[in-house]
This record gives sequence, C-alpha cells and structure tokens, in this order.
Amino acid sequence: MSGSPSRVALVLGAGGMLGRAVTETLERAFPGTVSATRWEVDVTDRFRLDAEVERLRPDLVVNCAAYTDVDGCEIDRDRARRVNAEGAENAARAAAAAGCPIVHVSTDFVFDGRKGAPYSEDDPPSPLSEYGRSKYDGERRVAAATPEHLIVRTSWLYGPGRGNFVDSIRARARNGGTLRVVDDQFGSPTYVADLARALHHLVLRNARGLVHFANAGACSRYALAQAVLSVSGMSHVRLEPIRTDEAGRIAIRPAYAALDTSRYASLIGEGPRPWEEALRDYLDADRSRAGGG
Ligand SMILES: NC(=O)c1ccc[n+]([C@@H]2O[C@H](COP(=O)([O-])OP(=O)(O)OC[C@H]3O[C@@H](n4cnc5c(N)ncnc54)[C@H](OP(=O)(O)O)[C@@H]3O)[C@@H](O)[C@H]2O)c1
Repeated sequence: MSGSPSRVALVLGAGGMLGRAVTETLERAFPGTVSATRWEVDVTDRFRLDAEVERLRPDLVVNCAAYTDVDGCEIDRDRARRVNAEGAENAARAAAAAGCPIVHVSTDFVFDGRKGAPYSEDDPPSPLSEYGRSKYDGERRVAAATPEHLIVRTSWLYGPGRGNFVDSIRARARNGGTLRVVDDQFGSPTYVADLARALHHLVLRNARGLVHFANAGACSRYALAQAVLSVSGMSHVRLEPIRTDEAGRIAIRPAYAALDTSRYASLIGEGPRPWEEALRDYLDADRSRAGGG
C-alpha cells in the first residue's frame, strides 16, 4: 500500500494509547489519515460508523477501539461484548462495504497461559476472562466479515497517553513505600510506538490473516517493575513479590502469555527488538518530554 497524497486511513479508537501512536505513525504513509475518538465515531453505533466510512471512503480502516478494562469487563459483560465483539464486527463490515482492508488489534489474553512457551498464531485460544472471550469473539467476527483483514495480537502495552503498568509503577514509586507486584504472571512488555511501526510495516506489505507482535523476550510483572525502577533511577524503592491470588483482581489472567513473533519476522524480514531496549527508549523519551534531560 504505497502512499499517494490522497490516501486515507481511518483510525478508530484514536483517543487511546495505541490509537494515538498509530495515527502519528500512519500519517506518513497516509497523509489523509483521519483519527476518530469514541466521541467522534462509536463502533457500537453501526449506522453512524457506516455513514462515516461511506463519507470518507478510506483506503484502510484500523480498529484500535476496545473496552480494555480487564476487570471492568467481568462486571460489565454487555459492554465488553458490544465494544470488543460487535463493535469489531461493525468496523470490519464497514471496511468491507467501502472495499478496503481492516487492521484489527487483539490480545494475548485470548490464551489461557498454560502452554508454558510463547504462543504462535496456530495455538488454539482458550480465554480465561470476559475481556479475553469478547476479544476472541471480535477476532472471529472480523475474520468472518471480510477476507481483507489483518488481525494483530499484542501484549502488555505501555506508552504515552493512558494509565499503564509502566507508568503506574513509576507513579507508585514516587509516592514512596513498598510496591507489591505479582511475580507469577509472565508476558512480553510491548512499547506502543514499536507496535504502531509494526502495523505500518505489515500494512505496507499487504499482510493478511493473523499475526502476533510483541517486543522480544518475556518477563514477570515483578521483573518488569524492577527494570522500570532501575532505568528510572529509583532502584532504592522496595519491591515485594506477591502471588496473583494476593493481588485481589477480579479477572483471571493468563500465567504465561508471551507471543511467538516468528510469523511477523518472516513477513517483515526482521523481528521485534528486545523489550528491555524498547523500555529504555520509552523512559528516555518520557524524561525528555518532561524536560528532565
Ligand atoms: N493495553 C494493553 O496492555 C493491551 C494488550 C494487548 C492488546 N491490547 C489491545 O490493543 C488495542 C488498543 O488498546 P489500548 O491499550 O490503546 O487501549 P485504550 O488506551 O483503552 O484505548 C482504547 C480506545 O478505544 C476507545 N473506545 C472504547 N469504546 C469505544 C467505542 N464504543 N467506540 C469507539 N472507541 C471506543 C476508548 O475510548 P474511551 O477511553 O473514551 O473509552 C479508548 O480511546 C485494543 O484492541 C486492546 O484490546 C491492549
């Protein structure tokens, strides 16, 4: 999909952490990129969505819209289904009607974490939570709505613009006291800027089907917190490892949900960079933004 000046990408859920990064990245290839926040286009409002897509006639739709509060999804299952499953289908149907492909973003939480090794695209999902179930349903609905789909599963996102694990560790560390962090959940921390670039590379190669993308390597939440504190010069803050059942969360999370990114690497000719390197970049960029040098 090499760009002519008039090419238009419509980014749904553009007010979110990934939506902002994707909009910024895609604007280079699609100068006519249109970002739509929830207030501008609600994916659960099929008629409004269809009308907007009909009006814009985009060359690409990227669905970053989701109800991402994992514990909230257990309480408000209806909202999880409407946004993550039906909303995803609405976006895919609107793209199909406009004759353009859809890039849809999904999650490692479609897996139960019992494999004990990174999950590939061929591994069968078996979600443990309402969030995971609604996202898996969304994947299937997108795939059924149009063959012109690219579904990218990712994991443990952090970046500017929204509360996330990395920022919350730094904020809690500044408040003082001991931080209690689970050490029995493993995954692949992923910088949202790296994911946005990966989506761009996949779009340029007209990739279709299902692809996993996450920064390389895996660690526990506890090890990620240690890395955040160390890179942020706050290694003196006391960390206490706890088990998931001591954390008092509502939704069940997969214990080991790292993603195998071999398919991405073979499509692009290069694999993702290690999570430690991406984390340093984020924290350095964030310090510069805050004027901290
Ligand atoms: N964050 C992670 O760790 C993670 C991990 C794996 C996969 N993912 C996936 O990555 C994608 C992006 O997530 P994110 O981290 O960027 O989450 P986010 O910051 O919560 O962004 C999601 C955006 O979707 C919007 N949205 C919610 N309901 C909507 C609706 N009905 N219509 C239109 N927009 C709606 C939200 O708006 P409001 O804020 O106004 O509700 C928000 O701006 C999602 O598909 C998510 O499932 C995330």
